[in-house]
Amino acid sequence: MIKPSTIDDIKMAMNIVEVVSDFVNLKKSGSSLKALSPFTNEKTPSFYVVPSKGIFKCFSSGKGGDAISFVMEVDGLSYVEALKYLADKYNIAIEEEIQTDEIQEVQNRRESLYIVLQYASDYFQKVLNTNEEGKSIGLTYFKERGFSDEIIESFNLGYSLNVWNNFYQEGIKKGLTKENLEAAGLVVSKENKVYDRFRGRVMFPIQNVTGKTIAFGARALGSDISKNQPKYLNSPESELYNKSRVLYGLFQSKKEIRQEDNCYLVEGYTDVISMHQIGVKNVVSSSGTALSEDQVKLIKRYTQNVTVLYDGDAPGIRASFRGIDILLEGGLNVRAVTFPDGEDPDSYSHKLGATAYVHFLTEGAVDFIKFKTSLLIDGINDDPIKKAGAVRDIVESISKIGDAIKRSVYLKECSDVLQISEEILIAEQNKILITRNRFNQKGSQHKEASVYLPLELDESKITDYSKIIAYQEKESIRVLLNYGDEIIQKLNKKEIKLWDYFIDESEDIEFTHPVYNKIFQLMIQRNNKNLPLNIEYFLSIEDPEIQKTVIDLCAPKYEISEFWKEKYHIDVPQEEDYIKDVTYSNILRFKFRVIQHLIEVQIKKLKTAKDGEIDNLLDEISNLKQTEMEIAKIIGNVTVK
Ligand code: UTP
Ligand code: MN
Repeated sequence: MIKPSTIDDIKMAMNIVEVVSDFVNLKKSGSSLKALSPFTNEKTPSFYVVPSKGIFKCFSSGKGGDAISFVMEVDGLSYVEALKYLADKYNIAIEEEIQTDEIQEVQNRRESLYIVLQYASDYFQKVLNTNEEGKSIGLTYFKERGFSDEIIESFNLGYSLNVWNNFYQEGIKKGLTKENLEAAGLVVSKENKVYDRFRGRVMFPIQNVTGKTIAFGARALGSDISKNQPKYLNSPESELYNKSRVLYGLFQSKKEIRQEDNCYLVEGYTDVISMHQIGVKNVVSSSGTALSEDQVKLIKRYTQNVTVLYDGDAPGIRASFRGIDILLEGGLNVRAVTFPDGEDPDSYSHKLGATAYVHFLTEGAVDFIKFKTSLLIDGINDDPIKKAGAVRDIVESISKIGDAIKRSVYLKECSDVLQISEEILIAEQNKILITRNRFNQKGSQHKEASVYLPLELDESKITDYSKIIAYQEKESIRVLLNYGDEIIQKLNKKEIKLWDYFIDESEDIEFTHPVYNKIFQLMIQRNNKNLPLNIEYFLSIEDPEIQKTVIDLCAPKYEISEFWKEKYHIDVPQEEDYIKDVTYSNILRFKFRVIQHLIEVQIKKLKTAKDGEIDNLLDEISNLKQTEMEIAKIIGNVTVK
């Protein structure tokens, strides 16, 4: 337990802007700051920081809170871990209270394991850099592989001596216990003797997202590999190390993954390291094992886009396809890059050099489904049985994608490539989806893609939208003219001037009606200069159309209320009383219509789109769809008067 007084110190020191800025690029927007949400894959910023209140709010994910909850969300930390992160950032010494219950015991045990592992990491690093054997064997090996001093240091690479138990002896001298060393997987005891697990190997510490060492990967050198020794010996799983929940390199790469909004996925430790050295720092490795659902979730904290880097031959790549489906199921956009024969991300980086390598990665990335299709179909076009198998396999992958629009486009493309009618592919897909849904009802909570239905487009609706939009625009201007200066409470209970709220929310929409648009632009100008938005101002503008509109819109709507009040002593609710609801639902409904309209337009474009345009259109549509759903969700919760 961290002492309450320490928690107070942290809360006093922490500054929401400083904390958030370590993760996202904030830009000033009125009295708050704005950025692309670190939690979703949005294209227009809906992530806000309000410095005066010490809070953040992300409208696309619904997350919000103070600096502590931000760190918890963004890095997936527990409350205590978040406090420790902040204490570290602000150089506050953590004072902990002794707590004598079970939780404390677990906490203590985990802490001891962390300490033991940190000790080991330091020890192996020291051996590599100062010990004769470490230098002549370990360091020489890394140097021969082309690793720079900086990279060796930043990945805390080390070396374990080729002796029975020097590490163990040293550890005991330092006061570590055999039990802890064993629990951390660093030593093995056999017949009353204790041995170091790692001997004569170069050491790759495996760190969790916060940078703490939780395990090691240890590579044998030279002739040792052939002597029945595995090339890599990894730590056994422990209380701290669950290999399906860790991605090698994530700690060093997470910032760049978020910045680049893409994560390269490679096979090995050395691939991650070499790519960092050459300047491609958004890369992680699942360390030779099939990707797990937990690892996919880890990646999704930072980006929705993954590029899988494949070395090896076609059979090897085929074998890995199952693993990639898990990325598609996770809703990630997946691309693939293949390396020339005999090259891997590590070797090829040294061969090409920085510029050519980056170029190779960006130019070489192809959509995963297309990649899989072309690889599976290669050479079997005239073997109907093999072809049927391949088709099923490809449709299986497509069916993992949650987004119906994306699926339909993939099916269309594959129908061309495979020369099989779209209807057959759709039928095949529906079969898979239905079977899976049925299966899933028995217990599994996994949410599945819904069965594909062709998108119908009702042309007549589009004209209706423009009417609805005109009405929404008028309503919005009316509310702003009358109540722009009012303070309203947002759903998250925070107070804001109606104006600021509206402008923040509607920066990305344009008024289609010329007069409303003129008024809106004038309003923005006034507001930017901090001038009041009173009606007098608009009436002073020499534009008869504006004057007339403003007067119309300002005519009181509920004159009757006074009369009711006097005569029957009944309080009729004034518009002011529920203005926040009116505005809120107005803005939302307004946006909702605009978005629906945009979706229709984009879908219409999709029908005639050329190959190169489809990706962009799809991206746009799926973003719009997401926003549409989020707004719909909120509108459901807003009282509409
Ligand atoms: P590779 O054999 O491709 O190794 O295995 P590598 O990373 O390219 O290493 P170098 O370049 O030969 O030194 C890829 C990954 O599979 C895991 C490791 O995580 C390795 O980085 N692996 C491989 C093991 O865990 N054990 C092994 O025996 C081999
Ligand atoms: Mn390699």
